[in-house]
Amino acid sequence: MPTTDHELAIAATGLRKSFGDRTVLDGIDIQVPAGTIFSLLGPNGAGKTTAVKILSTLISADGGQARIAGHDLTAQAQAVRAAIGVTGQFSAVDGLITGEENMLLMADLHHLSKREGRQVTAELLERFDLTEAAKKPASTYSGGMKRRLDIAMTLVGSPRIIFLDEPTTGLDPRSRHTMWQIIRELVSDGVTVFLTTQYLDEADELADRIAVLNNGKIVAQGSAEELKRLVPGGHVRLRFSDPTAYERAATALREASRDDESLALQIPSDGSQRELRAILDWLDAAGIEADELTVHTPDLDDVFFALTGTSDPTTDPTTTDKETVR
Ligand SMILES: Nc1ncnc2c1ncn2[C@@H]1O[C@H](COP(=O)(O)OP(=O)(O)OP(=O)(O)O)[C@@H](O)[C@H]1O
Ligand SMILES: [Mg+2]
Repeated sequence: MPTTDHELAIAATGLRKSFGDRTVLDGIDIQVPAGTIFSLLGPNGAGKTTAVKILSTLISADGGQARIAGHDLTAQAQAVRAAIGVTGQFSAVDGLITGEENMLLMADLHHLSKREGRQVTAELLERFDLTEAAKKPASTYSGGMKRRLDIAMTLVGSPRIIFLDEPTTGLDPRSRHTMWQIIRELVSDGVTVFLTTQYLDEADELADRIAVLNNGKIVAQGSAEELKRLVPGGHVRLRFSDPTAYERAATALREASRDDESLALQIPSDGSQRELRAILDWLDAAGIEADELTVHTPDLDDVFFALTGTSDPTTDPTTTDKETVR
């Protein structure tokens, strides 16, 4: 383990959960250092929400242990609840009452005094740009406003660790960026964020560490960069408009794969300056002039498809067929 226990906001080992005969979590380990963003990725039904519910004491695991903010998940559930905030995948906002009333209700749940409750509510509504809408029924809010209110409600109790289950699903690009900004601000205040998402660019953008959940297991874990290195997919693509030039280049560049339809060649490459220079020198020496040269580095989408694209969890992800070798 890279850090000692008290520096880990979340430390879970061997978490298991089944519903009937369906094993959803088949022994997963998760470590999240305090003050960092951890992202759990996985296809629909992988068990992300189940993991969030277990770690936030909403449901119990069938096996395994976890410490949240240093407290044992089962023996000290009350202390765990005091340290965390949860924004569920589906909104907890009550549409019949106003945004402000939703906030005050949360303040009551956290046993804040009336005065404290009003103060925290006003501050958070301001911070989430909801002051103007505060007195309107939440049912009249847009999806983005509801999501912001959801997170504002989660922050009423000043949690040190927050669980965000797909916080940006359904938001437009601008609202997503606003949400990312909010999440970054939370972390710069020292809050630990456990995030699930369907958007790989979101994990790439925000997360210090990412874990990919598939078939009940964590099939890969690391920084976005580390995960990208797991899969092949980097290549240089040369596109031609002249079929004769294309044929000549294809004959000369035997290791390149052909795309006859678009007159393009793909050369496996890590995209480094050294490899690019070698390719360019080589093209010059062979007198080949492409109309377009683009560099493709693998992104988290490549990783995701490579790791979760098969129903056989024993398949070695690093040998999975990639688009680039087609
Ligand atoms: N209370 C429950 N009873 C029975 N099955 C359940 C229950 N909760 C979840 N499941 C099942 O467990 C599996 C994992 O569900 P979960 O909601 O954790 O997935 P998820 O990764 O969050 O998916 P999504 O990306 O769609 O939100 C699914 O097959 C789901 O049907
Ligand atoms: Mg879910």
